Amino acid sequence: MALHYAAKGVFLALSGRNAERLHSVAEACRSQGAEVEERGIDVADEAAMMQWVEDLDDRKALDLVIANAGIGLSTSKERSLHETTKQTFDVNVTGVFNTIHPALERMKERKQGQIAIMASIAGFRGMPGAASYSASKVAVKSYGDALRGAYWGRVKINVICPGFVESRMTEKNRFPMPFLMTSEKAAKIIAKGLARNKGVIAFPFPTAFAMRFLTLLPQALSDAILRQSPKK
Ligand SMILES: NC(=O)c1ccc[n+]([C@@H]2O[C@H](COP(=O)([O-])OP(=O)(O)OC[C@H]3O[C@@H](n4cnc5c(N)ncnc54)[C@H](OP(=O)(O)O)[C@@H]3O)[C@@H](O)[C@H]2O)c1
Repeated sequence: MALHYAAKGVFLALSGRNAERLHSVAEACRSQGAEVEERGIDVADEAAMMQWVEDLDDRKALDLVIANAGIGLSTSKERSLHETTKQTFDVNVTGVFNTIHPALERMKERKQGQIAIMASIAGFRGMPGAASYSASKVAVKSYGDALRGAYWGRVKINVICPGFVESRMTEKNRFPMPFLMTSEKAAKIIAKGLARNKGVIAFPFPTAFAMRFLTLLPQALSDAILRQSPKK
């Protein structure tokens, strides 16, 4: 997304925990002409996120905030379901709140701005193979759906629900990933959806259609189908 938006005249504020990776993305964006601020920060750190986002907004009124940080953990001998769920929700749910809330109230006051929440196709329904991850995405998708109505006419709120996209997260998957797409293509689709202020930007079409269809089936049938889905 950063590389997609990077251009002369654009200011980007990028964050993440890994300074090296963050710096390399920031440099690539700078080489495309963007002004870039990079900040090593953990989205789970409420106070630090609030301070940074408010400070940014004081300096340059933010017009788009993308709450993108997310993790997909698997349970193991070392990490129980309880630990997995807690860690996942700290980043994928609380991290989203920490990212968007400091900007939301300011955008509401000036009746201008846009907030994009990165959910997932897995956010249409709890998935047995990725219980913690899918539940965290269901939570932020519903929150985005609700905020969109609550802030209508003042702040644009969008929920992004991608299928499989090439990234560090998916390179670990050892199961078939239908319609896997490049991050460049995904970024283009997302940016187009944001420009059109689409409520839910779900793609690719076949995966989004299949997930929506699953939610319409009787519970026993969708349970039986999803029990076959691969484990994260
Ligand atoms: N790839 C897919 O197929 C797919 C599909 C649907 C939705 N998504 C969602 O898309 C988003 C991006 O994921 P990705 O696929 O691009 O995976 P990724 O390559 O692993 O990227 C995850 C990003 O989140 C940051 N991050 C993770 N934990 C963080 C924390 N505690 N504080 C701050 N930043 C943190 C990472 O930076 P650091 O590690 O440096 O902190 C990294 O920039 C996630 O929300 C994911 O759930 C991905």
